[in-house]
Amino acid sequence: MSYNLLKGKRGIIFGALDENSIAWKTAEKVHEEGGTFVLTNAPIAMRMGSINELAEKTGSEVIPADATKVEDLENLVDKAVEILGGKIDFVLHSIGMSVNVRKGNHYTNMNYDFTTKGWDVSAVSFHKTMQVLYKKDAMNEWGSIVALSYMAAQRVFPDYNDMADNKAYLESIARSFGYFFGKDKKVRVNTISQSPTPTTAGQGVKGFDGFISFAEKMSPLGNATAEECAEYTLTLFSDLTRKVTLQNLYHDGGFSNTGVSQEVMEAFTKDEE
Ligand code: NAI
Repeated sequence: MSYNLLKGKRGIIFGALDENSIAWKTAEKVHEEGGTFVLTNAPIAMRMGSINELAEKTGSEVIPADATKVEDLENLVDKAVEILGGKIDFVLHSIGMSVNVRKGNHYTNMNYDFTTKGWDVSAVSFHKTMQVLYKKDAMNEWGSIVALSYMAAQRVFPDYNDMADNKAYLESIARSFGYFFGKDKKVRVNTISQSPTPTTAGQGVKGFDGFISFAEKMSPLGNATAEECAEYTLTLFSDLTRKVTLQNLYHDGGFSNTGVSQEVMEAFTKDEE
């Protein structure tokens, strides 16, 4: 169903790698709601993924940008404004990567060059993106910027490794930059803290299958899917949420406020019956 929520709005969507990506689902839904956008991803991801298929489907152009490189982001923002024919109304930052996770390095045995790369890609890239948009005055008033986070920023999930720290950093950047973007440009900045989701990045986390089933059983509404995350993001891009800013918004079926669920209790009490 379409509500034309984003009719006339222009945006930039980072991070659509393949059809499982949260950014991919978001691009499809934004398109359904009448928004126009450019798609972007790191040059290497473009060779691996299928972003051109998504571009064709949504009538979008693709502009490669490594989100850790300010000059790439400057080029991206200039081209996006030119292609879309005006300033930007919405931005989705859907980027995450930890080299320590990829290489299987335990949290107590990090390689700090990898750690640095991880926070640059997963957190500081959000600052860089916003700084470029801010300096170029490329956002329209009442625009909306969203990044995707995970609850390991607040609570311990041992296998999430240094991505937990990266997400804490990301959420802090959203608040800190969001203050200035709000004051100076009337633009809102939020993070969505999403349920575990079976994507390339998600499945890279050790023990992901067990973890996603546990979260499903713990959440009163079940895990939120990538499509549902896309739908929530649309509300934040729409004019219906203009005073929501500096927030980390849980989109997790209730997981974050559940101490224990009946199903999880049962798994631990069976032996006593
Ligand atoms: P994904 O693997 O489909 O997307 C991650 C994207 O980051 C890829 O498109 C990748 O090419 C891009 N990327 C990596 N390095 C980059 C760079 N230097 N410049 C530009 N782009 C770069 O996985 P998913 O799950 O859709 O991830 C999107 C966001 O959602 C990430 O921030 C992730 O941490 C977050 N998230 C994911 C959850 C999950 O369980 N899958 C749960 C909560 C949050």
